[in-house]
Amino acid sequence: MDRITKILCGIDDVLACPRCTLALSRTNVVVGDGPADAKVMLIGEAPGRNEDRQGKPFVGSAGKILNSFLEKGNVDRSTVYITNVVKCRPPGNRVPKREEIEACSVYLRKQLEIIAPEIIVLLGKTAAESYLGRKVSMATEHGKPFEHEGRTVIITYHPASVIYNRKLQGAIEDDFKNVSEILR
Ligand code: URA
Ligand code: SF4
Repeated sequence: MDRITKILCGIDDVLACPRCTLALSRTNVVVGDGPADAKVMLIGEAPGRNEDRQGKPFVGSAGKILNSFLEKGNVDRSTVYITNVVKCRPPGNRVPKREEIEACSVYLRKQLEIIAPEIIVLLGKTAAESYLGRKVSMATEHGKPFEHEGRTVIITYHPASVIYNRKLQGAIEDDFKNVSEILR
């Protein structure tokens, strides 16, 4: 068990969390992955089937796509912390509900407190809207870093969205290049 998961278990047994109904259908709680002193935190939507099976974020097809964007943007995956707004897989990969995101936010808040990342990358509309607590227009807001509660935040499309819309490929590549620019 990594250090972040251990700390979260100490506060509240996250790996056995019963706080929302996603607990009933999950295999594993997917807390997150990456170093506790990461400068960058990537926040996705929710675990998918492979993530639920393996207990790690972005290890399935969306993970492969994410890896390619990180590589193209020259961001080393092993240096970033990756998590999701909900830690358990919604049945059939549906979008997590407001009450599930709210129930799970205790863990994300704690992760932000412990890791204290300088840069937050929000992967997709669900992550962006729940992190920022407001409606987000992906088309106009993606790729433009801004300050929010003392951190630099950058919104991009969810990596899996290129499966349905190839046109987003270039936009997401540019967004990840902006992330590495900030890191320099
Ligand atoms: N999609 C996400 O948003 N998160 C994952 O961990 C995997 C797929
Ligand atoms: Fe608990 Fe979050 Fe899983 Fe719901 S999604 S059961 S709040 S860990």
